Amino acid sequence: MFPLLFLLFLQFLPVSSEDFLVKIQTENDEEARNIAEYYGFALNRKLKSFDNLYIVSEYLDDNLHLEHIVSELLQHEKVHMIEKLDNFGRFARKEMATAKKYENLWQLEPSMRIEEAWKTGFNGSKVTIAIVDDGIDESHIDLKNSFSPNFSFDFVKFGNYPKPDKRENELHGTQCAGLVSMSGNKCGLGVGHGAILGGIKLLGPKLLNDALEADALAFQKDKIDIYSVSWGPKDDGITADGPKQLTSRAISDGFQYGRQGKGNIFIWASGNGGNSGDNCALDGYVNNEFTITFGVVNSDGTPASYAEGCSAVLSAISGGDSSIRTTGFDSKCSHISGSSASAAIASGIVGLALQANPSLTQRDVQKLIIESSDISKIHNISFQTNGAGYNFHQKVGFGLLDAEKMVKLAKEWKHVEKQKELLVKTKLIYSTTPLIEIKLSDEVKSIERVILSMDIYHETRGELSMYLESPQGTISEILPKRITDKNANLINWKFISVNFFGEHSEGNWKIHLKTSKPFVLRNLSLKITGI
Ligand SMILES: *[C@@H]1O[C@H](CO)[C@@H](O)[C@H](O)[C@H]1NC(C)=O
Ligand SMILES: *[C@@H]1O[C@H](CO)[C@@H](O)[C@H](O)[C@H]1NC(C)=O
Ligand SMILES: *[C@@H]1O[C@H](CO)[C@@H](O)[C@H](O)[C@H]1NC(C)=O
Ligand SMILES: *[C@@H]1O[C@H](CO)[C@@H](O)[C@H](O)[C@H]1NC(C)=O
Repeated sequence: MFPLLFLLFLQFLPVSSEDFLVKIQTENDEEARNIAEYYGFALNRKLKSFDNLYIVSEYLDDNLHLEHIVSELLQHEKVHMIEKLDNFGRFARKEMATAKKYENLWQLEPSMRIEEAWKTGFNGSKVTIAIVDDGIDESHIDLKNSFSPNFSFDFVKFGNYPKPDKRENELHGTQCAGLVSMSGNKCGLGVGHGAILGGIKLLGPKLLNDALEADALAFQKDKIDIYSVSWGPKDDGITADGPKQLTSRAISDGFQYGRQGKGNIFIWASGNGGNSGDNCALDGYVNNEFTITFGVVNSDGTPASYAEGCSAVLSAISGGDSSIRTTGFDSKCSHISGSSASAAIASGIVGLALQANPSLTQRDVQKLIIESSDISKIHNISFQTNGAGYNFHQKVGFGLLDAEKMVKLAKEWKHVEKQKELLVKTKLIYSTTPLIEIKLSDEVKSIERVILSMDIYHETRGELSMYLESPQGTISEILPKRITDKNANLINWKFISVNFFGEHSEGNWKIHLKTSKPFVLRNLSLKITGI
């Protein structure tokens, strides 16, 4: 009696299908399938953007055998790696409260001089911009001319067209697409209305995993110039999360090898969690060595209160308190606001600059953005000036982006020299002192980014704040306090600062820690990139 009951009970347990990422060294998908099946896995699909990587799921519903079949599979000479895929959620940066309505994005205040940039003859023509989001209603009268299926894919349903689900109100991607490239038939002109538009659907009702996310962000990386992204981990002031292993590789490979070696431009919105005390230092997509992040300012030139700030923010876009007309479903128009709009508008502006000079590398674009940003129209915050004379602030980076200046500078741009890198792993793996000093050589004469990585052990990490001080005396807040974050520890975290741009590396770098509680730092390393 007992065994029968037990069996019945088992049948009602949901059979959780665990997904794994497996590297199988073969060009032959049938062979890969046979290998997977022989060991008790079902082969779901091959990744589109990586060689020899497959998603498989276990089909035995008896978890006791799992460890066993995983280690059996690894014995096969053609199987080089197997990794369990954990599920997680990623969230579109939704609408924010607005005070002003704009029918045309080029009228946003303070002016980003978009119309002036168009008048110099650029509209993003021949530049490919992909919106990585919840799909694009590509039949819209303002999108159908720019949309290209060549650079589009639905990673939710594995289909060629990135169709949004209208019943689920998956409108966000379509709205962002409009700001980038709408053609002016009905809802206005997108910033890069001559650009080629790709739609990469990644957000949907299902949870994501590392393989899906990486596959989407590496999709067509030779041809896609700009990936416009305005989603991420929860902006709740508690979460500290970022890209996992393969997605991190997708982003760094894109930077290094994408666009035939010139580097993909990943443009990220800094996040909408400012009012919940959130900060993009705890968002590993924004606070990332290889992405470019924008903040947002209101029409009066003050930073939007909901916008997150951090030392990785490079520049800012206007429209913070504005609702901007863009494309909607079924050839209708809609309005969008929030930091999502800033990533899309910034992608369009960078698209204009890439048309002006298609040879620009990712690092050229980074420097060009800094040189084309201006603090004169930004109010109510006090900027710091770094040792190379650049003004910066965590919420707006080096200021408001000026599209006209950017295309003009792009045309006559002198490429930045080959990148140098200075890496110091300190012998110190255990420290509780509130001041850590690291002495560096003069290897880097002009800094691009500073990357500080460490494991932090702290009972309530939200109570800890951290500042990095350069030999030239610039102080960059790399970790602010987050009063709502009562979680312990922050392991294997990288803090990125762009605030030292143009300074030199030589001398004593100081890490200042502020907390009333005991803490331990381990595995500290300081990396400086630049020329
Ligand atoms: C898309 O691919 C087709 C077929 O290869 C090609 O003819 C077309 O020019 C491509 N479109 C773009 C925008 O690259
Ligand atoms: C964009 O500009 C190019 C010239 O650079 C022109 O041929 C094209 O028609 C323009 N596209 C749009 C949509 O206005
Ligand atoms: C900006 O600062 C000025 C002077 O301190 C103040 O009068 C004004 O209300 C502030 N504006 C905003 C939007 O905070
Ligand atoms: C961090 O340090 C610990 C202890 O020294 C070590 O076991 C671990 O592998 C290190 N982690 C990394 C990412 O280097």
